[in-house]
Amino acid sequence: MADDRSHSSAPAHDPADGTRAYDLDREFVFHSWSAQGALKPFVIASAAGCEVYTYDGDTYLDFSSQLVNTNIGHSHPKVVEAIQRQAAELATVAPAHASLVRGEAAKRIVAKAGPGYSKVFFTNGGADANENAIRMARLATGRDKVLSTYRSYHGNTGAAIVSTGDWRRMPNEYSRGHVHFFGPFPYRSEFWSDSPEQESERALHHLERTIQAQGPQTIAAILLETVPGTAGVLTPPPGYLEGVRALCDRYDIVWIADEVMAGFGRTGEWFAWQGADINPTGARPDLITFAKGVNSGYVPVGGIVMTPRFSEHFDERVFPGGLTYSGHPLAAASIVASIDAMTDEGVVENAKLMGEQHIGPGLRALAEQHRMIGEVRGSGVFWALDLVTDRDTREPVGAEIIGALKSELMSRKLLPFAADNRIHVVPPCIVTADEVAVAMQAYDGAFTAVAQKHGLN
Ligand SMILES: Cc1ncc(COP(=O)(O)O)c(C=O)c1O
Repeated sequence: MADDRSHSSAPAHDPADGTRAYDLDREFVFHSWSAQGALKPFVIASAAGCEVYTYDGDTYLDFSSQLVNTNIGHSHPKVVEAIQRQAAELATVAPAHASLVRGEAAKRIVAKAGPGYSKVFFTNGGADANENAIRMARLATGRDKVLSTYRSYHGNTGAAIVSTGDWRRMPNEYSRGHVHFFGPFPYRSEFWSDSPEQESERALHHLERTIQAQGPQTIAAILLETVPGTAGVLTPPPGYLEGVRALCDRYDIVWIADEVMAGFGRTGEWFAWQGADINPTGARPDLITFAKGVNSGYVPVGGIVMTPRFSEHFDERVFPGGLTYSGHPLAAASIVASIDAMTDEGVVENAKLMGEQHIGPGLRALAEQHRMIGEVRGSGVFWALDLVTDRDTREPVGAEIIGALKSELMSRKLLPFAADNRIHVVPPCIVTADEVAVAMQAYDGAFTAVAQKHGLN
């Protein structure tokens, strides 16, 4: 991939603005998923490519992609320009009207999904994409229940939060008909498996028994992150996705693939389910939800790619769902520019190559040096380091270690992504071999410092 990005010094900002940004945030802004009192947010002034800049003149390498969404990198000039042009031409339009840019965006997304897909319904983000996919599945099947895995995150709206398997579900359990099961995870198997193949087989058996015990005639959909992301980048073992497809066919259940985090380049594929390594027979989901990487989050947007079964079902019947900003022109323009630039610049191919040749080998080399790294897993620019106090027991490290690692990484000018006992290595898809090398040094230094301080190695 051509790299004409400058790695020179950070752009000039006024440090006084940094102080003001921090003070305004603390006084007036209420943050997600947090007790507000203890927050000390990192202040970002501007960003470009894989770098973010502070008001004090520091440059950080962004190996978080913010919330794993800046797949094309920060401030891609073509995407920025498309948003500016669109804002001048038609900054908003009601969802009932047609607009050229919305049609162009939908056409491109359908093309990337490949044969068998027909239309796109646009939402404001990932949660409402899942919400509406669930609604579609319920209406098309006349059934109610939705099965999803414990290790998952599907969003923060009513049904999406109840589909979520992790702790964020519990204070929000008011939506009906959501049933959880365990998906495959060979490193921390719930099925006493010895191999990925056995994990796949046993996880599928558990899923089928869950379907039978719930009553197949009551189940509308199985909602699955193709590669559960926040839960730890859990690449499905061989045969799992094909097995889910077969169970959905056997019991006439809709397979909803949540590709909000995994889609649009993250795994080195346009959609993660298209990866020949995890889905060699190309088993196709019925509905695909997307957000984040579709336009790298420059304008909030998400959506559902559907098969004709759904688009045709609602040819004659009213679809009882909608959003004021469905297919918003600024979002649509950013999608068109982003997909075109990602295609022209080989961004998805770059993600795959970086994963195979630089990130994967780099992280495995780190694991040889640092016993705290229990497992390295991932593909493309979607990796997790599962950190343990003991490699035999696989006891996860605690919050203190993760906190210390985050500070060490920040002090080495790397913006990290941490979840539970893990560091996720999730740079933009445009990351270069040089940037990966710089990041590996930062991870190495941080692991060495934390292991020494906490007597871990
Ligand atoms: C897999 C997955 N689904 C859904 C969502 C929710 O998306 P949003 O925050 O845009 O509503 C997320 C967000 O991180 C996600 O990772």
